[in-house]
Amino acid sequence: MSSAKVFHINNLFKILGIHDTNELTYVSRKLRISNKELQYYNDKMIFPTGKVLYSILKYTGYTEFELKVRLGIIDNKIIEWIAENPEFILKNYKERKEINSNLTKPIFETSKGRLYMGDCLDVMRCIPDGHVNMIFADPPFNLNKKYESGIDDYISEQEYINWTEKWILECIRILAPGGSMFVYNIPYWNTYTSSILNKYLNFRHWIAISMKGLISVRNKLHPEHYSLLYYIKGDKPLVFNKQRIPMATCRHCGGELRDYGGKKKDLDPTGLSVPDIFTDINPVRHEKYKNRQANELPVKLLYRIISMASNEGDIIFDPFGGSGTTYIVAEYLNRMWIGSEIGSVDDIITRFNNKSDEELLKIIEKDSNVLFTEKQIKIRKKNGFWGYEKLTKYKREVCKEN
Ligand SMILES: C[S@@+](CC[C@H](N)C(=O)[O-])C[C@H]1O[C@@H](n2cnc3c(N)ncnc32)[C@H](O)[C@@H]1O
Repeated sequence: MSSAKVFHINNLFKILGIHDTNELTYVSRKLRISNKELQYYNDKMIFPTGKVLYSILKYTGYTEFELKVRLGIIDNKIIEWIAENPEFILKNYKERKEINSNLTKPIFETSKGRLYMGDCLDVMRCIPDGHVNMIFADPPFNLNKKYESGIDDYISEQEYINWTEKWILECIRILAPGGSMFVYNIPYWNTYTSSILNKYLNFRHWIAISMKGLISVRNKLHPEHYSLLYYIKGDKPLVFNKQRIPMATCRHCGGELRDYGGKKKDLDPTGLSVPDIFTDINPVRHEKYKNRQANELPVKLLYRIISMASNEGDIIFDPFGGSGTTYIVAEYLNRMWIGSEIGSVDDIITRFNNKSDEELLKIIEKDSNVLFTEKQIKIRKKNGFWGYEKLTKYKREVCKEN
């Protein structure tokens, strides 16, 4: 009775002895729980309640406490028990330290950075504690996407969360005190990521990266943002350079999109404070600026994050290289960088050799920390809108200069 594996076998199925659809049907009949419901508790790793819980306990002979422990669901009651009985855990736990000595030679180097080809976990194991000042991670989203590296992007939820915890713990170890850590993912996964990070780092922001064109899901709100978690190691960030952005104006006439009422004159000529919703980051669509077919983050996003959370000379680490956006921007901003990529690193190397991002980065630099970009000034002037001359702070600075 062995049919093909058509679902993820998480701990619940393992406990119930389910390895294929026939076994699922058999157990669900015994428990009087539908296949679909059993699969739901297995896939979502949600602890069952009520009748479902009662049937599972009866079938397995476990107590509720034992079932929780076997499922790896650690609630506060269990945490309290562990804290009261540490010897019990410590006696049975062997720390595993596997260091891959093949990973000592980078596959690509610049004067500021080193790129390793391999699993980020192996690469991180070779990095000393507290060595890096900022980490940006954009892992695969486990959405069954095709990666050139051939990684399995459709593992079970439990495996994905366990793997996430593994690489996050290594990141935390290599992050310097006061260092910043960013994790980019879909909101669903970042709810799990933040529950891991909350145990070790200090939460600063859940940044919503507004993204149009995401696919609608039936019976749900239309998704319009990716999540960027921002945490720091310790109480205070070692570096926080406030970033400012231009005012949002109409593309056609240049008029402001928000009403600043009588407060216009008090606006800062260096721009508006960046809010925790980024609405000005567009996906890389233009072929001229595209370095791979999918999963390439816009350089503008990395420009903002790296400028905000690090200074020149700081070390930036990104475990998931992809097309190398983080490394390119770090290099441009005179940061040191370390990277790893499990798949092909050709796109990254070509990108460094072509210097194809420089033009765009110069524009981004020019348009950062100003209230109006040159383009905005031009169109606003043409249509009779006010400009820098209206701002009290600007007028004061001009007077000082003269
Ligand atoms: C979402 S992409 C990153 C894209 C990148 N931020 C960019 O802008 O180009 C994730 C990358 O992580 C790589 N990857 C997946 N698992 C990895 C691992 N264990 N170690 C290192 N790289 C890994 C994949 O091959 C993929 O290129």
